[in-house]
Amino acid sequence: MKRLRVLALVNEALVPPDSMEGRPEQEIDEWKTEFDVVQTLREMGHQVDVLGLSNDLSPLRRAIIDDRPQIAFNLLEEFGGIVTYDSAIVSYLELMRQHYTGCNPRGLMLSKDKALSKKILSFHRIPSPRFAVFPIGRKVVRPSRLRFPIFVKSVTEDASMAISQASVVRSDQELEARVAFVHDITRTDALAEEYIEGREFYVGVIGNKRLQTMPIWELKFTKSDAPLIATRKVKWDRDYQKRLGVETNTAEGLSPKQEREIVRLCKRAFQALDLSGYARMDLRMNEEGRVYLLEANANPNLAYGEDFAESAEVGGLAYEALLDKIIRLGLAYDAPWKGSPV
Ligand SMILES: Nc1ncnc2c1ncn2[C@@H]1O[C@H](COP(=O)(O)OP(=O)(O)O)[C@@H](O)[C@H]1O
Ligand SMILES: [Mg+2]
Repeated sequence: MKRLRVLALVNEALVPPDSMEGRPEQEIDEWKTEFDVVQTLREMGHQVDVLGLSNDLSPLRRAIIDDRPQIAFNLLEEFGGIVTYDSAIVSYLELMRQHYTGCNPRGLMLSKDKALSKKILSFHRIPSPRFAVFPIGRKVVRPSRLRFPIFVKSVTEDASMAISQASVVRSDQELEARVAFVHDITRTDALAEEYIEGREFYVGVIGNKRLQTMPIWELKFTKSDAPLIATRKVKWDRDYQKRLGVETNTAEGLSPKQEREIVRLCKRAFQALDLSGYARMDLRMNEEGRVYLLEANANPNLAYGEDFAESAEVGGLAYEALLDKIIRLGLAYDAPWKGSPV
């Protein structure tokens, strides 16, 4: 690809330094994705400007008008501390007629709301666990179709916020307490789902219309028989990961038919939720081999060595090729303004 002017959009607190040298591991974890993407794009020969944003759009407007970037590489996951505002930023990019990487505003808006996604998935007969929403300030009344054990989480927060082993509840009393906990910690409505005991898979999907999937990836605890839940600590606490032997790798032992069905389910979900660019699907498979979609992550973590990039690499798309493809998809995305006569 020819050399492009790239504007990397990152959270103001996560503007990466030029080198990792001498930085403690914990600090690196904070901005590793931003560092890996910016550094690799530069190594690929692109001219990359990094823009840190917090809660003011004017620097973005200025950068777009003054520097005329050919593509905005979108690494923002929130705006003003609000995770659901990422779609608003992308809407703004569209209003500014700016090419960008990753998911379009509609797909982001639909997929970030787990309850709304599940309603759409249900229309398309894409299996996801039965659920009920418990809004803040309302009495917790469990519908009888929702049976224990139940898993309680936030409707909109991600990164396993407020998720621990205690997320699984087995009585109405526990349910009420856990819903109150999720309300308190996240300040969002609570989603209560049927708990799917079994294996956990992640599947990377990349494309706009024609979709490609990465090898099916599986989460395992190799040194513990703790319930297999990707809690906050499992995702972010390195010592805890070591203790449990947290590993993710190619899923083994699935029949070709099962693999085909999982891939098909993931592609259908990507389309049903109007996603574009790249996404990672989180799935569970119960003992009988039934597969359920837990959530679709638009614009998943792109750090080198994380599940998305790692599975892409095993699937034949090494890191540079992956970023290259993401940029090409961003340039090719058929945004409404591209068809407009003005
Ligand atoms: N219904 C469920 N049954 C079993 N495990 C679940 C369920 N919902 C969530 N989990 C566990 O919690 C983790 C985080 O939930 P997820 O819906 O993916 O939210 P997040 O956006 O925080 O990643 C999952 O990876 C899985 O391990
Ligand atoms: Mg998840």
